[in-house]
Amino acid sequence: MMSSTSIPFGKPMLDQDEIDAVVKVLQGPQLVHGQVTRDFEAAFAERAGSAHAISVSSCTAGLHLSLFAQDVGPGDEVVVPAFTHVATAHAAEYCQAKPIFVDVQADTGNIDPDGIADAVTDATRAVTVVHFLGLPCEMDEINAIADKAGAFVVEDCAIALDATYGNRKVGNFGATGCFSFYPVKHMTTIEGGMMTTNDDELAATLRQRKAFGYDKMLGQRAKPGIYDVNVLGYNYRMNEVEAAVGLTQMSKLDGFQAQRAANFKSLKAVLSEIDEVTVFESTRGKAQATYYCLNAVMPEDGSVDRDTVVAELNAQGIGTSVHYPGAVPLMTYYREKYGYKTGQFPVSEWLADQTVSLPVGPHLAEGDAERIGNAVKQAVRAAKRT
Ligand SMILES: Cc1ncc(COP(=O)(O)O)c(C=O)c1O
Repeated sequence: MMSSTSIPFGKPMLDQDEIDAVVKVLQGPQLVHGQVTRDFEAAFAERAGSAHAISVSSCTAGLHLSLFAQDVGPGDEVVVPAFTHVATAHAAEYCQAKPIFVDVQADTGNIDPDGIADAVTDATRAVTVVHFLGLPCEMDEINAIADKAGAFVVEDCAIALDATYGNRKVGNFGATGCFSFYPVKHMTTIEGGMMTTNDDELAATLRQRKAFGYDKMLGQRAKPGIYDVNVLGYNYRMNEVEAAVGLTQMSKLDGFQAQRAANFKSLKAVLSEIDEVTVFESTRGKAQATYYCLNAVMPEDGSVDRDTVVAELNAQGIGTSVHYPGAVPLMTYYREKYGYKTGQFPVSEWLADQTVSLPVGPHLAEGDAERIGNAVKQAVRAAKRT
């Protein structure tokens, strides 16, 4: 008989270690600008293989800062994938630049390099790519196109922590890489994000512009409280409590990642028995994915009703999500502002309607991946349109 315990889509893996680390910060004198944040940044930079890691209050803040700190502004264009979280496109909007949407590849969900080549113009300042569900984009091709166009690249690594392209981790292929520590991501700081860069000058600019544009940080001020502001900046800092959670999570990250990979493999094995379901590859060329969730893609001909699959799974206590619920240019804000029409981004539109994201996180218990796979079998049968 099937267990009735429900399996959430994602669950933060926090225990006494994080609680102790947080309590220690709360009992100490320093809640921002502290050593814990510096230690977290150093540990992250080392793991990512990047010269610099700069903590921020969210991945969205990092995406915005990546553009803002490099003076993207009105009249500029930023190429973004049509299939992503809105944050990727919003970052360009915050700068009053125009997001130029490019459709994604049907077999990876990643931005199509040919589409980027078609989309760049003299006004293109940046190309933001999203490593969709952990599979790195084709960075050699994309960097060549961006270089030729005189644009810089931003990597949105929100759901691709530790993924590799060749022998390097994501976050090292653009001017900046931006990571998310939202509660159900590979690791969490509650809210929070990290930026990576290998450019020393840009790192200094990012640090200044994430903190109001102060010319001197707290520890650099000859007279306490005295500073000047010579550029515009935001308050996008991460606090010490979040950093303490993050640093503790990092010590467990190898285990989390291994568990995710094992769960993905077990779930994919069961799904391979279902003719109607396609699962994206986890390796392609130089790209090796890490595993955020597993997207089960229903047939293009619409013969299986995705919403019924979701309803059936949820009724069996299996949490699901959708990555992503719509092509971003067709979301009301962008459609109304720029006049995009249904049918302009066919792959993104199809994926948005025909995929269901299944859990593979380290919260899954022994046998859960098989249970999820078997539930999908039953749900797909129930969702077949006759
Ligand atoms: C691709 C992508 N970029 C950015 C974000 C936003 O991340 P955050 O919530 O840390 O701002 C998300 C959130 O899920 C995402 O999936």
